[in-house]
Amino acid sequence: MQMKEFAKHPLIMKRAEGVWYEDVNGKKYLDGISGIFVVNIGHKNRKILDAMKRQLEELSFAPPIHSTNLRALELADLISSITPGNLHTVKFFSGGSEATEAAMKLARQYHKQSGNPGKFKVISLYDSYHGATMGALGASGVTKRKTLFEPFGSGYVHVFPPTCYRCPYALNYPECNILCARIVEQIVKKEGPETISAFIIEPIGNTGGIVTPPPGYFEILREICDKYNILLIFDEIITGFGRTGEMFAAQTFGTNPDILCMGKGMASGYAPIGGIAFSDRIAEAFYGREEQQVQFSHGHTFGGNPLSCAAAIASINEIRDRDLPHKARENGARIVERLQKLQHPEVIGNIRGKGLIIGAEFVKDAKTKEQFNEQLNFGVRVGKAAQQKGVILRFDPNWIAFAPPLTIESNEIDTMMNIFSESLDAILMTTK
Ligand SMILES: Cc1ncc(COP(=O)(O)O)c(C=O)c1O
Repeated sequence: MQMKEFAKHPLIMKRAEGVWYEDVNGKKYLDGISGIFVVNIGHKNRKILDAMKRQLEELSFAPPIHSTNLRALELADLISSITPGNLHTVKFFSGGSEATEAAMKLARQYHKQSGNPGKFKVISLYDSYHGATMGALGASGVTKRKTLFEPFGSGYVHVFPPTCYRCPYALNYPECNILCARIVEQIVKKEGPETISAFIIEPIGNTGGIVTPPPGYFEILREICDKYNILLIFDEIITGFGRTGEMFAAQTFGTNPDILCMGKGMASGYAPIGGIAFSDRIAEAFYGREEQQVQFSHGHTFGGNPLSCAAAIASINEIRDRDLPHKARENGARIVERLQKLQHPEVIGNIRGKGLIIGAEFVKDAKTKEQFNEQLNFGVRVGKAAQQKGVILRFDPNWIAFAPPLTIESNEIDTMMNIFSESLDAILMTTK
């Protein structure tokens, strides 16, 4: 954010519990976006705090360069038991960008040592975001965050995302036959299949406005990847750990990736952590071979930090024991229902998402899908008004997103939606 602006009225948080933050002035805010898609089990969960305290008494650090530790092993087992398919090998990092960088490097090295050294390019979506580091940003497709830092390394190919409401090919689902997925095969052929290492995708794209692929999209991508020996990487840094109504979006969409990236909600923000889980096929290309340099030549100092792992184990157990993915589906449905019953539903052109990640796109005219004049900064004004009234959301000029902790109660959803509705009405009054 622009610091000069922020410094005029800085929002400084002091404490938080459940879905509520309190700032240094004693004002309360409902956390409608789980920090930033992170605090899946809510703030100040006693079980996590106790697990972390116990861990600190035992071991706070053991670097991955020469050892591992009990909590990292326990977490690897747990991750392997909750991820779909045969993603039985796990590597830990400190956050999301490290995870996506590692996934793309793993794909390159995998191909190098499995007889396809020419496979280095990565295909990804326009409007996507895979992290702030140079490699992850190169794969990202969100113009605003990228152009200042260009040029990136070569080998990034972008395709249009499945934004059905504003189809890039001006088609309608299902008559479109999901061209946005099928066209990937043409792109692979033009680029040369022997040059493509991986396809990285967020199952639901945040920065593009909660972009939610239609049924059938991932089946087509999976088929193309299998046909051309391309690794399918799911960036589940936002969608993982119950957010979409299953433990992972891969399960929500019924498609198994070859590599799954995780971060954010992995330890619900109690400690920084990220990771990748990958398939047995990939692992076999690295494990126990005699030749030189076949181990994955990549790592970070804080990978597998015992305190972070203890927090993640406790957080994942909480998600499982309380069946929070199920609660996410119920809570998400309640938000959708409230959006449909707004006093001014005509300015919501499209509602999308899965589980408890719901986006609403603003339109001036729902029939023509005309957007509000750019200068109005409509969605940003609605989001800021809601924040002033005590609800924190994720907002953009043309859309707004709701993704509170999965533990949110129905009365708290009502509070969040009442304040959103009042904020929308207030901005509409000044807009007309
Ligand atoms: C989908 C996705 N991938 C990767 C990242 C990068 O994660 P981090 O900010 O933890 O490095 C983010 C962060 O917002 C994200 O939303």
